[in-house]
Amino acid sequence: MMVKTDIQQIKQRYGIIGNCTTLNRAIDVALQVAPTDLSVLITGESGVGKETFPQIIHQNSPRKHGQYIAVNCGAIPEGTIDSELFGHEKGSFTGALADRKGYFEVADGGTVFLDEVGELPIPTQARLLRILETGEFLKVGSSKVLKTNVRIVAATNVNLSQAVAEGKFREDLFYRLSTVPIQIPPLRSRGEEDIILLFRKFASDCAEKYRMPPIHLEDDARRILTSYRWPGNVRELKNLTERISIIEENRDITADILRGYLPDAQMEKYPVLVKKDSDQKIFNSEREILYQVLFDMKNDVNELKKLVHEIMGGNIQVPVHEDTYTYPQIHNNPIQEAEPIIEEETLSLEDVEKDMIRKALEKHNGRRKNAAADLKISERTLYRKIKEYKLD
Ligand SMILES: Nc1ncnc2c1ncn2[C@@H]1O[C@H](COP(=O)(O)OP(=O)(O)OP(=O)(O)O)[C@@H](O)[C@H]1O
Ligand SMILES: [Mg+2]
Repeated sequence: MMVKTDIQQIKQRYGIIGNCTTLNRAIDVALQVAPTDLSVLITGESGVGKETFPQIIHQNSPRKHGQYIAVNCGAIPEGTIDSELFGHEKGSFTGALADRKGYFEVADGGTVFLDEVGELPIPTQARLLRILETGEFLKVGSSKVLKTNVRIVAATNVNLSQAVAEGKFREDLFYRLSTVPIQIPPLRSRGEEDIILLFRKFASDCAEKYRMPPIHLEDDARRILTSYRWPGNVRELKNLTERISIIEENRDITADILRGYLPDAQMEKYPVLVKKDSDQKIFNSEREILYQVLFDMKNDVNELKKLVHEIMGGNIQVPVHEDTYTYPQIHNNPIQEAEPIIEEETLSLEDVEKDMIRKALEKHNGRRKNAAADLKISERTLYRKIKEYKLD
């Protein structure tokens, strides 16, 4: 894809790594909207790189010689936030020993970046709306209407429309702030190439900083890196790369080494179990999880079937005793040999599932709690399945 030269320049200037279309589009929108006074709302998961965008917007606007003030709305205590943003008059509260200008007054003619805007208390939201609509505000403890000319860029990693639905964020303010929305994509959706580019950049930055050779990924490690979900996005990749760079003496990073640094091997293996966006369901469906576990256990089933076949003369309906699992012969059946059996039998997924449940129940003498634990499903799901397949 042809990327506009100004987008490339912006990336260079702000140290933004990546070539995916969605990231390029976000930069493009920021550049297009920069010369206007429109409010911009930057959204995206934590760690995707939202913080540079308000700077891009400010520095490419006619306000670039004015003040740029970044405010983390989540970090200021509720009791002082109005005073910080809008200022106060001497004596307006205990400790207000002198008049104080707020950020909106100081940034007159410039840009205010409201980070974590979803954290603003409701009364502050009302004051902010007034500034957005008329440029007017009152200092805390004053009834004198003041005017200011600020451009507002806000950012959030929470779903603001959900906050609106829950009554935590004013709907009118939400619409006013998001005149131009810019969405920064999560790392997992940017493609393998971007993940590798970022890794290389962070590895070489770290190598330069600590004067040592950069770490390098072996092919299998690279596959792990590109298929990981990155819930903490670029920030997580950066921290991980730095940690490995500093701790590992061997500069060739294998899959095994890399796995040791990723949070939970289970989570990686069963992505449906991983919590996705906060507004998404934790589980895609219980069925999907069950299938995944079943597929993983496929080899065991095959081995078991083969064994039962040998011992019982092909009648797989015969109850399988727990001891069979540890029967020494099982170790003589290589997995590759067992593999074709399931294809020959052309069992449907449903049949495999039924079979698994039946076997688990038999193994535990009908104790559902233990059977469910064995199948790695909830007891509730097991009850439902037993009913569905009429296994009781
Ligand atoms: N495309 C990128 N290229 C290089 N570095 C990046 C990129 N995106 C993000 N980073 C780096 O990742 C880190 C996290 O970015 P940033 O602080 O902007 O995240 P954020 O979106 O504001 O997250 P949060 O919602 O948690 O505040 C920073 O160190 C930033 O420099
Ligand atoms: Mg941030």
